[in-house]
Amino acid sequence: MKDSQEFYEGIGLKFLDPQYQTAGIREYMELEEEFILKTFKDVATVLDVGCGEGRYLRKLVPTVGKITGIDFSEQLVTLAKQSTSTLNNVTVILGSAEHLTTLVQETFTYGLLAWNTIGNIPQELHRTIFDNLAQVIENKVFISTFQCSAAVMEERLRYYAKTGFKVDSIDGNQVILEGGLHHANAYPLSYFQELLESTGFSMKTHDLGFVGVMIEGGRC
Ligand SMILES: C[S@@+](CC[C@H](N)C(=O)[O-])C[C@H]1O[C@@H](n2cnc3c(N)ncnc32)[C@H](O)[C@@H]1O
Repeated sequence: MKDSQEFYEGIGLKFLDPQYQTAGIREYMELEEEFILKTFKDVATVLDVGCGEGRYLRKLVPTVGKITGIDFSEQLVTLAKQSTSTLNNVTVILGSAEHLTTLVQETFTYGLLAWNTIGNIPQELHRTIFDNLAQVIENKVFISTFQCSAAVMEERLRYYAKTGFKVDSIDGNQVILEGGLHHANAYPLSYFQELLESTGFSMKTHDLGFVGVMIEGGRC
């Protein structure tokens, strides 16, 4: 697999540009934001894994005690640092989610992986990442991702067409884009249930329109 860091540091920012969103993707993103702002209100400490250019760091900072974002893209971490530089309860760290326990020394009340970050991380790293989350998240982890259905796949393909990203191939729920620079995957809920339960979390789900789902992992 090519290194998707190159994708995020280039054309990947289009993923946050509302002009490319289809109706289903827009609904997913709006409901995701509404859920996160409501659920994370007054939470003491938050870890945003794959924080990107800092969207949720800026949105959550007024209502949480302290928020830390990590991302492996230098360009996005620079943007996140610039846009939060005047806020003293935000920390942004350059690093990979699979090395979480070496990047942060403290623990956090809630963890967040927003906007299908999990589906962009190679599956072989998931177990390590969940093991890491189990060590640093005290209370709950929230994972927002695509639902798995033919209708959602059609919506995703309409969305990728609007962004202008070249779809190379589709393999089940995975879409391979831009010559293999980007892999966008989705997994059945049973996959997350197994991952969460085997790392000490119980699972609840919250639909985010017909496209998305927020998976809530609570410490057992
Ligand atoms: C779809 S974007 C979501 C960005 C952000 N959470 C948001 O909602 O705007 C996925 C993010 O995960 C980051 N990412 C992907 N794999 C990563 C990894 N292994 N470790 C850390 N960050 C990663 C990418 O750089 C990108 O910023």
